[in-house]
Amino acid sequence: MELTHLALSGYRNLSALELDFPPGITVLWGENAQGKTNLLESVYLCCLGRSHRSAREQQNLIASGQDAAHVSARVLQKDGIHTVEIALSQSGKKAIRVNGSPIRRMSELMGHATAVIFSPEDLQLIREGPSARRRFIDSTLSQIYPSYCQSLQQYQRALAQRNDLLRGIARGIAKPDTLFVWDEELASLGTRLIIARQKFLDQLSPIIIAIHESLTGGREEFLLRYCPSVPGSGEEEIHTELLEHLEQGHERDLRLQSTQTGPHRDDLSVMLNGKPAREQASQGQVRTCAIAMKLAQLHWMKDQTGEMPILLLDDVYSELDLGRRKLLQSAIEGAQTILTCTDIDTAVLPDGISSQILHIHNGQITN
Ligand SMILES: Nc1ncnc2c1ncn2[C@@H]1O[C@H](COP(=O)(O)OP(=O)(O)O)[C@@H](O)[C@H]1O
Ligand SMILES: [Mg+2]
Repeated sequence: MELTHLALSGYRNLSALELDFPPGITVLWGENAQGKTNLLESVYLCCLGRSHRSAREQQNLIASGQDAAHVSARVLQKDGIHTVEIALSQSGKKAIRVNGSPIRRMSELMGHATAVIFSPEDLQLIREGPSARRRFIDSTLSQIYPSYCQSLQQYQRALAQRNDLLRGIARGIAKPDTLFVWDEELASLGTRLIIARQKFLDQLSPIIIAIHESLTGGREEFLLRYCPSVPGSGEEEIHTELLEHLEQGHERDLRLQSTQTGPHRDDLSVMLNGKPAREQASQGQVRTCAIAMKLAQLHWMKDQTGEMPILLLDDVYSELDLGRRKLLQSAIEGAQTILTCTDIDTAVLPDGISSQILHIHNGQITN
């Protein structure tokens, strides 16, 4: 797919702008804190309805001093043009229109524009705790399967309600026997998530191994394995296990006032050369593993839909050595890419790599 047009107003430090994008690679360059990441973030917002920089309030996306932000994207797919328009207001309201019509559920946004973003924070995929890895899984599956996005949201709502109930019981204002209702709800929704994640990782693993092998010349072995919060395979077994874990955890969950088991606790095991990558790997190795995960995500998404997602590369290209840059270039062939960097030096960007070069200064774009 191709992002052909992006329009912004009231978005972070970016001045009102309308941009056309060619197929191929757009290079967006400028000094630090000028708005490069903000621009990529606005594209990501049109794909997933939220920022890739997690834990930020939507109000942060609105330019300071403004009441609202508007972002719209036009995307060309094989079946025609898709448009996404997002309006964010200071009151916290988020209004989304797809092809001109308002949507009621976030899942209705998915698939009209899809993206893979790779930024320096993605080293957390390897180094940090499991939440970045769950976000990796969820953002991939949600974009391709709207039903996954919906189950995930329902699960998160049910989880929040069970946790509220746990606190209510601890304060003596709710009855413990109502917990069973939420156990059942979480077990059903959670089973759907675990099954989808298992299947996803089964398909993703060989792609990752092949990409990582080509990035390292086969000298290193990278393995990614799904570690669900409960054992088992098949819908029935997982449902039974999950329900049992939830029911048997009542005492502990009441003491801690939060739900300690379920897919919100899933993880991926990341092994490099037979050892946990987070402990053993060097900075360069970690970067290569993270790139392999992101490229695999890109290709898996393409395999599922026949459409190559938009690739957003934030400040990562210049960090790579020449050999890895070449490999990256060949791996992203066919993907429309927006790449940011602080230096337009031709040593960084070989001739002919870009289709469009944009310069950004203080939120303003100049060609
Ligand atoms: N809501 C906002 N309103 C106005 N400016 C903002 C807002 N959020 C962030 N900024 C500004 O955006 C700039 C950072 O932009 P960013 O895209 O992260 O820069 P970079 O070019 O380094 O990627 C900073 O100057 C910051 O003050
Ligand atoms: Mg940045």
